[in-house]
Amino acid sequence: MPTDAAAGVRSRQDAGGKQILLIIGGGIAAYNSLELIRRLQDQGASVTPVLTRAAEEFVTPLSVAALSGSAVHRDLFDLTSEAEMGHIQLSRSADLVVVAPATADLMAKMAQGHANDLASTLLLATDTPVLLAPAMNVRMWQHPATQRNIYLLHSDGVNFVGPNEGGMACGEFGPGRMAEPEEMVAAIAAQFSSQGRLQGRRILVTSGPTHEPIDPVRYIANRSSGAQGAALARALRDQGAEVVFITGPAEVRPPEGVEVVRVQSALEMEAAVQAALPVDVGVFAAAVADWRVASASDRKLKKSKDGLPVLEFAENPDILRSVSQMTKGRPPLVIGFAAETNDVVENATAKRLRKGCDWIVANDVSPSTGIMGGAENAVILISDQGAEEWPRLDKAEVASRLAARIADRVAPAPLAEGVPSL
Ligand code: CTP
Repeated sequence: MPTDAAAGVRSRQDAGGKQILLIIGGGIAAYNSLELIRRLQDQGASVTPVLTRAAEEFVTPLSVAALSGSAVHRDLFDLTSEAEMGHIQLSRSADLVVVAPATADLMAKMAQGHANDLASTLLLATDTPVLLAPAMNVRMWQHPATQRNIYLLHSDGVNFVGPNEGGMACGEFGPGRMAEPEEMVAAIAAQFSSQGRLQGRRILVTSGPTHEPIDPVRYIANRSSGAQGAALARALRDQGAEVVFITGPAEVRPPEGVEVVRVQSALEMEAAVQAALPVDVGVFAAAVADWRVASASDRKLKKSKDGLPVLEFAENPDILRSVSQMTKGRPPLVIGFAAETNDVVENATAKRLRKGCDWIVANDVSPSTGIMGGAENAVILISDQGAEEWPRLDKAEVASRLAARIADRVAPAPLAEGVPSL
């Protein structure tokens, strides 16, 4: 039988998206934790909420349950959850414990090792990293007792985000405002990055469609949602990589904690890729338009009695091919994608050789597969070892598997500057 601790470690390694145990303390900032839940879910994390008694004065268990899609844990002696998982297990199956807002009282309990309610018991029982987002009145924050507790918590290896300085709900001004949701999300991302196998690696990811202008108001586009590229950037970030995410105008939001470069056209994407080099790995997930309108009009085209407009096309640069075939400074690992509608393996194998990349992630984008714009992907990884068919998986799961394969290939990071990457 695995111990609780071993089970916890295993689930950390296996989780496709991150599992976050969110302890909501009792303070007016508890409202912002609702926004934090939403943003974490947008990023593909799953959130298990715990409410302290005081927190229930500010947010209702029902609203937290509805938003998180998870049961809300409130009682230390809840027989149902004891029978199903136990509070020790609850504290250990997470990848990260976040306390937001972390009140002066919760931090005091934690610093002293109290375990007299569910939140403090979980915090004492956990072997998972803990991130606190303190929120309290300025004078409470500045009080020597709170500062002493912060010192103790720091020495215990607990991490903090915020508090910020600003106006408080109580009318005072100074440090004590809880960090904004986006700051908390970035701190959570950084927490995962510091644990990954791709630390010290710079990885470029292209993603999304490109828009090729016809005139100032019209463009030619494709159906790429950018979901797979964004999931990949997130998974690489979670493995500790420094990610440059070059995205066309995509539907999905880029992940937090990566460098985002927004472009419109293939020409702009090519320039952004060149500017991002050198990198250790280049991942080319964008659905780049093969052609652009040769001379886009700088004025809106008007209907005319003289007939229909005739668009002439020019070929766009093949970004993947030009990076794959660089003679100097080529990234040690170059990965392309192949969107095919027929003869997937044959076409993608030929594409890999034609473009000169190391791996091709091929998929069937025929409308019947529902892959383009959908939540799942079924890929075939093509390398010099041949074609490897993966099962149909959630795009986040495809991304984390691919990130793990990339880490297998490029890790461990060199110990000294100047040591070759591979
Ligand atoms: N790609 C690129 N620049 C282009 C076209 C494609 O970097 N101008 C990259 C894509 O990001 C992807 C790979 O090349 O990684 C293959 O894209 P795909 O559209 O499947 O291939 P095409 O080059 O368009 O080839 P074909 O027309 O034969 O399908």
